[in-house]
Amino acid sequence: MLRVIVLGAAAGGGVPQWNCGCPICDTARTKQPDMQSSQASIALSVNGDHWFLVNAAPELRQQLIDTPSLHPKYGQLRHTPIAGVILTNGEVDAVAGLLSMREGSPFTIYAHQRVLAILKANSIFNVLSEKNVRREAIAVDHSFEPTLPDGKPSGVSILPFVVPGKSAWYLEGQTHPAGEDADGDTLGLRIEDKATGQYFYFVAACARVTPELKARLRGAPLVLFDGTVWRDEELIAAGLGHKTGQQMGHLSMSGSDGAIAMLADADIGRKYFLHINNSNPALLHDSPERAALQEAGWHMPHDGMEITL
Ligand code: MLT
Ligand code: MN
Ligand code: ZN
Repeated sequence: MLRVIVLGAAAGGGVPQWNCGCPICDTARTKQPDMQSSQASIALSVNGDHWFLVNAAPELRQQLIDTPSLHPKYGQLRHTPIAGVILTNGEVDAVAGLLSMREGSPFTIYAHQRVLAILKANSIFNVLSEKNVRREAIAVDHSFEPTLPDGKPSGVSILPFVVPGKSAWYLEGQTHPAGEDADGDTLGLRIEDKATGQYFYFVAACARVTPELKARLRGAPLVLFDGTVWRDEELIAAGLGHKTGQQMGHLSMSGSDGAIAMLADADIGRKYFLHINNSNPALLHDSPERAALQEAGWHMPHDGMEITL
């Protein structure tokens, strides 16, 4: 059985964001605390004993406290069920949680060379000593099987693939530590339980649904997909920022090029949005946007929810 726990569902900043007084953050902060959400990350397991994280959010420590499956085994002085972390990009919300995993437990970081180069260029990540924490490069279109701390195969097969996106925003206008523009800064993952053949797709950042991407996702039992914004210019319209979703490397939920329309006839079993920005009106339970996405067969996850396949 493939188990997926949504540790956090929000985009960079979380819901509410620390410095945001917009109506959505205000509602989450004061009137409806069940709207609160930490930054996007999932945990997955095929046997319930060993778990892999996809991305490590800044709130990782609290996410782990809130998730009994990820606690140290009762009675052991030092233990974690987390065998590895797979990174799909180098944004702050995807890597900052690694810094909370620094107390000597062995695990492996799996990431594309371009993201590994970012970790290498930022010496604070050296707190994860190479003695305990291996860094393994993953390659586009080459599936890999992450290993357990004792070196045994995990039974999970992961295929990374390129999705339209961009490199981390803090690198904008700067030289990427991995050099010139190239693929690999934004990955999607196909994650499979080798024993059962069950699989799902993780695409938490995506700027465009290309025909190739749509064909890939067709017929999948479960897809977790970029739900950053409802409308491309919503941050500007709300007076919250000067960037469109597209400029941030994310497509909208709505509109003719949006995820809902583009994946409407892709025959996907369960469709969840993930990486939802605090500007997105679909976060409000009683909004017309929320009703529209539900009508279209999409779900909004909440932190801590588990999905099984
Ligand atoms: C993104 O994926 O665009 C990030 O969430 C931006 C951020 O970290 O603020
Ligand atoms: Mn992000
Ligand atoms: Zn806000």
